[in-house]
Amino acid sequence: MTNLSNLFLRTALLFLGAGIAMGIFMSLSQDFTIRPVHVHVNLLGWVGFFLYALFYRHFPHVAATRLSWTHFGTAVIGLPAMMAGLTLVVLGHMDLGLPLLLGGEFVTVISVAVFIYIGFAATKAEPAPTHREVVAPAE
Ligand code: HEM
Repeated sequence: MTNLSNLFLRTALLFLGAGIAMGIFMSLSQDFTIRPVHVHVNLLGWVGFFLYALFYRHFPHVAATRLSWTHFGTAVIGLPAMMAGLTLVVLGHMDLGLPLLLGGEFVTVISVAVFIYIGFAATKAEPAPTHREVVAPAE
């Protein structure tokens, strides 16, 4: 079965490549119009997806749930849509850019909300061991 953590990590690497390519383009051209796109791709795409990958490495029991796949699906659709929209908006194409940006933001917010839920569920306190478990731990 596909490993969700690896999938997040590989997607993070793609965002890193794209984000750095934008940075190099801005440096060489001295045109900083796409700076907000560069920033979001690097921080949400590279840093955020990398942290998601580490999270699912650390809590593998939540990595195989339908909800965690919903998290990946919405994250991987939302951010590129948002970035495509933002690129169009900063380049002045509001008519197509704005709906794409708002749609991508909406999907990204859902993704973040799902992850917050997963994060709390994964870190719920373990019930205290019973007296029997302490005196005679299971073999
Ligand atoms: C080879 C890699 C990179 C290059 C060449 C690069 C280049 C740039 C350039 C040219 C700017 C615009 C500066 C300006 O408008 O004055 C910028 C802004 C920024 N970059 Fe990068 N960048 C790189 C990697 C990264 C990474 C990996 C991150 C985050 C994880 C990042 C985060 C930011 C942020 C937050 C800003 C906005 C700073 C501000 O507006 O004050 N960059 N970068």
